[in-house]
Amino acid sequence: MKNIAIFASGSGSNFQAFVDANEKGNFKANLSLLVCDKPGAYVIERAERAKINSYVFNPQDFATKAGYEEKILQQLQAAEIQFIVLAGYMRLIGPTLLKAYEGKIVNIHPSLLPAFPGKDAIGQALEANVKVSGVTIHYVDEGMDTGPIIEQESLRVRDDDTKESIQARIHKIEHKLYPAVVQKIIAEL
Ligand code: GRF
Repeated sequence: MKNIAIFASGSGSNFQAFVDANEKGNFKANLSLLVCDKPGAYVIERAERAKINSYVFNPQDFATKAGYEEKILQQLQAAEIQFIVLAGYMRLIGPTLLKAYEGKIVNIHPSLLPAFPGKDAIGQALEANVKVSGVTIHYVDEGMDTGPIIEQESLRVRDDDTKESIQARIHKIEHKLYPAVVQKIIAEL
């Protein structure tokens, strides 16, 4: 069984999807650690409930990104983490972690990349009036949602869609797709 860390900043519904899949036996790995950069984020409660250790930090307590990533790296090494899943982690990963986990960090993004990278991808898609959007799972590099694409799933945007209605359908896709795709990748590590 591989040891996985999930990085998240917010509500953590994707984190929860991994926990649920794990409990049902549909995702076979040790969910060893949550890394969270937002003290007070709801995902921390989810981790407590699932009895998963978390490392919570405030980037403002560090002078540099290298500084807090060194600390994260120590936590990852102590827990013998082999693979990192970003699930709504709202920060770019820096060289410290990229070097230590080369090719072993994935992210999920709520658009069909390379369209609409960065913040508020769903709002960007609505603004552009696209008729099809979706979800992308990709490897993480130093850029903003730029790493090699692993998997995508599309969804139709309807005329009466709002950010919330698209978000709900995106989440539904993500919660199924993400654990399944990560399971395949870690099997080949
Ligand atoms: C997801 O929609 C994901 O695509 C994006 O951030 C969102 C996180 O949602 N990167 P949640 O915190 O997992 O509910």
